[in-house]
Amino acid sequence: MRRAQQHAIWGRRGTFILAATGSAVGLGNIWKFPYITGENGGGAFVLMYLLCICLIGLPVMVAEVMLGRRGRANPIMAMGEVARESGNSRGWTLIGWCSVAAGFIILSYYSVIAGWTLEYVTTAARGGFAGFDGDAATSTFSALQGDVSKLVRWQTAFLCMTALIIMFGVTRGLETAVRILMPLLFVLLFVLLGYAAYAGDFSAGFGFLFNFRFSDLSMEGLSLALGHAFFTLSLGMGAIMAYGSYMPHKTSIMKTVLTVGCLDTLVALTAGMVIFPIVFASPGVEPGAGPSLMFISLPIVFGSMPLGTVFGTVFFLLITVAAWSSTISLLEPVVAYLSERFRFHRVSASLLVVSCAWLLGLTTVFSLNRWQDMDLLAGMTPFDFSAFITEQVLLPLGALAMAVYVGWFMNKRPLRREMKLDSGVWFGRWLRVLRYVSPALILVVFLLGILDKFT
Ligand code: PHE
Ligand code: NA
Repeated sequence: MRRAQQHAIWGRRGTFILAATGSAVGLGNIWKFPYITGENGGGAFVLMYLLCICLIGLPVMVAEVMLGRRGRANPIMAMGEVARESGNSRGWTLIGWCSVAAGFIILSYYSVIAGWTLEYVTTAARGGFAGFDGDAATSTFSALQGDVSKLVRWQTAFLCMTALIIMFGVTRGLETAVRILMPLLFVLLFVLLGYAAYAGDFSAGFGFLFNFRFSDLSMEGLSLALGHAFFTLSLGMGAIMAYGSYMPHKTSIMKTVLTVGCLDTLVALTAGMVIFPIVFASPGVEPGAGPSLMFISLPIVFGSMPLGTVFGTVFFLLITVAAWSSTISLLEPVVAYLSERFRFHRVSASLLVVSCAWLLGLTTVFSLNRWQDMDLLAGMTPFDFSAFITEQVLLPLGALAMAVYVGWFMNKRPLRREMKLDSGVWFGRWLRVLRYVSPALILVVFLLGILDKFT
């Protein structure tokens, strides 16, 4: 408990749930989940994704939160602390290093996409979606992709917003954002769900999401499903570990993780049930449209629904807030490390990291236009590559290392102590899954995915 004195602990029990939900719920749920589902065969992909969440995501999340709470520091130093206490090699701090790298790369491209949502807030507020059909929505989106200065402006604005919160301390800003705005996002999603059911082709959308066709199963889909399970739960890169380090001892880790996991999945599935009925009812919009899917289908909704200007503005604003609470959790571990290890002031650490992420983010911006046809590796643009190296490589490997460490190497006494609020039966089941099932599955899916990509 030495470090507990230097490292703040969140007072209220609910704060961890709020912060972790803020981290988990973001563009991954509303933007990414629908579009990769659309590209990978609908129901078959959803099923693989749900399996990955249950068998791998949730058990690893429990492990990651536990490691953070035990270590009570930024991911790198927390791993060092836990390894020291259990008498393991310092080499395990490598987990922390990978995680800081992954967080930084994700931050660089995530802020570009979040910039798109900011642009759409202003378009919605001007009433710019009125009467939109598939073609109008598509051309508006392509125009934005080609406008480098606009993209950079919004990327910069969004990164500044993130740095601002990190500079002034996570707790207060985040609490308001998540306590008030997140529930509002849920409410609005359900309003849109109602509208999609009424105006869209609900049965086609629903069928696409939940009808399982064996022929749609693919290796690429499975590997994307695994990567996305980590991405959507903010796992394998220290965000959840960093938040776990602020978690008070009197909370049950398993119950908390279950709550966050369910909320995250609920938002993703609801977003899918909003977007696909619209897609199937709009000529010229395809489920496999890719990253543009949300930015094409939602404007069509807002362009036709009553009070669409108000709903559209508020909804894109709420997505921005959700993305914001996610990038805050991406930046926090890096800044916490720089300030706890090298005594950086939080302000200078935030500015430094954000500037570097901005520079790297420019490669994502150019991948949307000038470098569209660039082949960095296996046909990937720099943006594709950033997404690939994080979601398909760093996150799975980070999660694998955490599962193996906690399952096989960590001393059982401190481990059990952190999990004392969870029943012995569930503790045993969790540990068994974490030892055998999760690592084996991660390894197999990871290797097959890499093979599939490069052959
Ligand atoms: N979970 C966030 C989302 O779904 C993204 C994220 C990944 C945030 C990793 C933090 C860490 O949008
Ligand atoms: Na998510």
